[in-house]
Amino acid sequence: SSPSTYTNILVSRPETGVSLITLNRPKALNALNSELFRELNQALAEADADESVGAMVLTGSEKAFAAGADIKEMQSKTFAETFKSNFLANWSMSTIRKPVIAAVSGFALGGGCELALMCDIILASPTAKFGQPEINLGVIPGGGGSQRLTHAIGKSRSMELILTGRMINAQEAERWGLVSRVVGEGEGVVVKEATEMAKLIASKGQVSVQAGKEVVNAAYEMTLAQGLNYERRVFHGLFATNDQKEGMGAFAEKRKANFTHD
Ligand code: CAA
Repeated sequence: SSPSTYTNILVSRPETGVSLITLNRPKALNALNSELFRELNQALAEADADESVGAMVLTGSEKAFAAGADIKEMQSKTFAETFKSNFLANWSMSTIRKPVIAAVSGFALGGGCELALMCDIILASPTAKFGQPEINLGVIPGGGGSQRLTHAIGKSRSMELILTGRMINAQEAERWGLVSRVVGEGEGVVVKEATEMAKLIASKGQVSVQAGKEVVNAAYEMTLAQGLNYERRVFHGLFATNDQKEGMGAFAEKRKANFTHD
């Protein structure tokens, strides 16, 4: 595990193979400032590089996953400043190869909703509330909301959320396909379920897990024909791994596979 210390996040190892990153600015409802995002990027990169980690869980508090970009930090910025610094360009997880599961309780608004959308899987507590309220601040989403939210829930719903600023609850988010499911009620339940899911993913062959993430993400970048071809090539490539021999061998021998991640 890493010796890094952070001031805006907590990093722990709740289960074998699982790195849990908790946003920790409770007084600001986990509003995302530059320092927090820098720490988050570092923690994710460290977990990604750590052979003993198979998947990550990203969470906030019971009250807020994250209430958006830090409005107080943004308030006085000028166009020239945002443009020259390419503000929010580093709000991305696109270099992370291992799966990241968002465990969302409470508010996931603006940049908080966008942060959840950067993750690979979103689990929601019944208390979760999602929205893109930037329109109320005289701006629009800047952390990928107009793109990832539209991919996730479609044009009409995405337009509605972005142009009205309305919040949706966990049930609606599930119905719209924004989250994969809503877990049971109770404090800590969503983190526990996300951790269990991450542990399960970490128990699979890690080459195939990372390949699976890569090809699903390719679906957002390629035509169907390109994507199908790409998937097939990556599938072919996995026949060069020991995990494929082990996985299929174990099935044939009616035993549990013991993946060596190579
Ligand atoms: N930035 C900075 N501070 C924030 C914040 C944010 N996004 N959200 C909440 N806070 C702070 C509040 O200012 C308050 O601090 P003080 O105690 O110092 O006043 C503290 O967190 C608690 O918040 P509230 O008192 O407002 O709590 P509430 O329970 O009454 O309301 C809320 C909760 C509805 C989430 C409300 O805080 C809210 O509307 N927050 C802003 C949500 C928002 O507009 N998010 C989008 C930001 S823009 C963006 O994200 C751009 C992008 O695309 C990247």
